[in-house]
Amino acid sequence: MLDEIARVQEDLEAEIAGAHTQESLEQIRIKFLGKKGRLTTLMRSLGGVPAEERPQVGQKLNKLKKRAEQLLAEKQEAIKSSAIAARWDAERIDVTLPGFPFAMGRRHPLQVVLLEIEEIFSSMGFKIAEGPDIEYDYYNFEALNIPREHPARDMQDSYYISSDILLRTHTSPVQIRTMEAMQGELPVRIIAPGKVYRRDDDVTHSPMFHQVEGLAVDKHISMADLKGTLLLFVREMFGGDREIRLRPSFFPFTEPSAEVDISCIICDGRGCRVCSETGWLEILGSGMVHPRVLEMSGYDPKEVTGYAFGMGVERIAMLKYGIDDIRLFYHNDLRMLEQY
Ligand code: FA5
Ligand code: MG
Repeated sequence: MLDEIARVQEDLEAEIAGAHTQESLEQIRIKFLGKKGRLTTLMRSLGGVPAEERPQVGQKLNKLKKRAEQLLAEKQEAIKSSAIAARWDAERIDVTLPGFPFAMGRRHPLQVVLLEIEEIFSSMGFKIAEGPDIEYDYYNFEALNIPREHPARDMQDSYYISSDILLRTHTSPVQIRTMEAMQGELPVRIIAPGKVYRRDDDVTHSPMFHQVEGLAVDKHISMADLKGTLLLFVREMFGGDREIRLRPSFFPFTEPSAEVDISCIICDGRGCRVCSETGWLEILGSGMVHPRVLEMSGYDPKEVTGYAFGMGVERIAMLKYGIDDIRLFYHNDLRMLEQY
């Protein structure tokens, strides 16, 4: 019996020493201390030991059981802490490593150009005004001297929301909203940047695009002021030697009216698909504010005059950066956007 106790102790210690996982440790516990475990079986057979040896054997067995429980507990702790150490090792943070690179956002090229336009006109004393993208027919057309059924409405194919509400087709309604709000005060000198919408789609036309409206109303404002302001703008934007060309045109809300082209930078005036082989690209419509528009907005056309213009921001960005398809602005391809 004593020999058997010694063997059990030897085996138990060897097996615990060789265990590296909680699972194998549990197997060992069952093997020795479980219901049918070797140590349990020995303790149960204590009754068969001669009475005079029983106290000594019993003592040894109890000692061995205590030792077994202690060894198991110690080993369990050891396995647990080595598992934690291994995890620490695997997840160790090396503070000397360089940081992860992360993508920095940047302004969209249209936003860059828009801000530059705002800066140039601000430096000439223009204030920035805004109006809603979803506009009343009244401001988009009626108050601009374009009554219902007027053929000029066909120049701007429109997205209607209801019979008298639409996505604005140009920024010109902000002219009216501004003059109404100023209630006859002078001078009026604003630009109004924003999105506009038309049923249009090709290399120079997009269904959603940006315009910057300009409006100056005061005593003695003439077409020469308009021309000088625009030439100054174009030279600030594109450089000192750029030429502009005014073509007589028609807008119901200006009289006389002119469209302004600048010499095409993409082909240097030789002709390309952006300028439709003409060497010139239209960037804006303009003119002297029509007396009826002044009147409808609370100004006396006998006392004051004004000029207005509406420029296409995409066209200006295309010329500035040599981009030959307007749709590139909206594809959101970073290879394109990161160049500006
Ligand atoms: C107008 O929208 C007038 N409201 C401009 C105006 C304002 C005239 C004040 C007189 C006084 P037009 O439809 O020509 O005019 O458009 C003005 C500019 O917007 C064009 O010169 C062009 O640069 C740009 N543009 C027009 N349609 C598109 C389009 N679909 N995509 C991109 N740019 C466009
Ligand atoms: Mg036009």
